[in-house]
Amino acid sequence: MRDRYTNVAIALHWILALGILAQIGLGYFLDNVPRGSPERSAWVNFHKSIGITLAALIILRLAWRLTHMPPPLPVAMPAWELVAARANHALLYVCMVGMPLTGYVATNFSKFGIKYFGLVTLPPWGIDDKQIYAAFNGAHKILALVFVALILLHVAAALKHALWERDGLLRRMWP
Ligand code: HEM
Ligand code: HEM
Repeated sequence: MRDRYTNVAIALHWILALGILAQIGLGYFLDNVPRGSPERSAWVNFHKSIGITLAALIILRLAWRLTHMPPPLPVAMPAWELVAARANHALLYVCMVGMPLTGYVATNFSKFGIKYFGLVTLPPWGIDDKQIYAAFNGAHKILALVFVALILLHVAAALKHALWERDGLLRRMWP
């Protein structure tokens, strides 16, 4: 039985982990950039461009995951931990889809489109509606908090296995 993730799954996991952590940092950094300033427009478009790029990688990752089963979790793990790990992973996928989706939909109900890395302009396909924007932007912000909590739990669990139990779980995902 295969006891490691595939090289593609490992590459996508770590590229996305770095990209998503940077994107979360960038998202909260936006809170400190004054609204209406020219530099805000540049930073927001940078965040949107990275977000769209991450979304493409996330779709690729989901497609790979659905066609390539992960190695089975160690049978020695207690039942609650198996359930917790599966729930954590499933919810991480929900956030990986939900974050770019809510951001993208919100943006399309504003008068701003997306200037993809300043190269291509994607004009909004929705109407300029403050209420619809606020609903999706609110979802983007709440989901961001849930995502951060899930990632902290995920990293704590990975470190517990690597440093405390030393059961080689991290090695399954290590390049
Ligand atoms: C994996 C993808 C993404 C992650 C992890 C992410 C994360 C975040 C975070 C953490 C914030 C700050 C939330 C807060 O201040 O409470 C934020 C804000 C924002 N995000 Fe994203 N985002 C992603 C994708 C996108 C995409 C694709 C778009 C649009 C195309 C987008 C548009 C925005 C905008 C406009 C804000 C500022 C909202 C405001 O200040 O009112 N995001 N994002
Ligand atoms: C934004 C950050 C991260 C996200 C979104 C994320 C997401 C995920 C997801 C969804 C899985 C499940 C893969 C599957 O079976 O389909 C996974 C597995 C894994 N992740 Fe992460 N991860 C992140 C960061 C990290 C970090 C920083 C570490 C290490 C400290 C880590 C260690 C692992 C390990 C060891 C596994 C394999 C668990 C197993 O063997 O079942 N992850 N990750």
